[in-house]
Amino acid sequence: MTDLIPVRTTAMPAEMGVLLHDYPRDAWAANPHFAKSTREWMRAHEKFRVLSDHLHDQTQSFLDRTRDPDGFADHLGRYGTALVRALHGHHHFEDLSFFPELSEADPRFDRGLEILEKDHEALDAVLDAFSHTGSRVIKLVQLDEATAREEAGILVTQTEAIRAFLNRHLGDEEDLAVPVILHHALRG
Ligand SMILES: [Fe+2]
Ligand SMILES: [Fe+2]
Repeated sequence: MTDLIPVRTTAMPAEMGVLLHDYPRDAWAANPHFAKSTREWMRAHEKFRVLSDHLHDQTQSFLDRTRDPDGFADHLGRYGTALVRALHGHHHFEDLSFFPELSEADPRFDRGLEILEKDHEALDAVLDAFSHTGSRVIKLVQLDEATAREEAGILVTQTEAIRAFLNRHLGDEEDLAVPVILHHALRG
């Protein structure tokens, strides 16, 4: 159901993985240059994954009638707003500060950074659609539960798209950025 939503389905070009070969993921934690700020950046990614899973599960449970409507609307409002706000702030930081820093350190990966920036634009479109549908569902839960369920059928395709998107984007982003950080000792 993600065919209407511009989620990237192609892998990163192979040459974007040259440093990952030298700095494989399972060796990051032991690297002395794997600094606190990098761990925190990856923890933010983990928070996005948890929030998007939660929103998807809640929406599916509402559709399956195993979640009470008011509780669902409450979680959708609180955690949906938190996810959208946090992702916008995160993308803003990456586009304006983090990616330029990586590019300056190692321009071999500019093509990958461009792909990641385009991902952000596409995800913004998905998040806007999600916010719009989510607001409607929250209002409809009070006014017309049957229509709320119809709209939740749209919402669940959007939460699924957000999950699929984050799954691809966050993994690719970490695989590109962390080896550059470690190789060039960007965080001390
Ligand atoms: Fe990103
Ligand atoms: Fe990120």
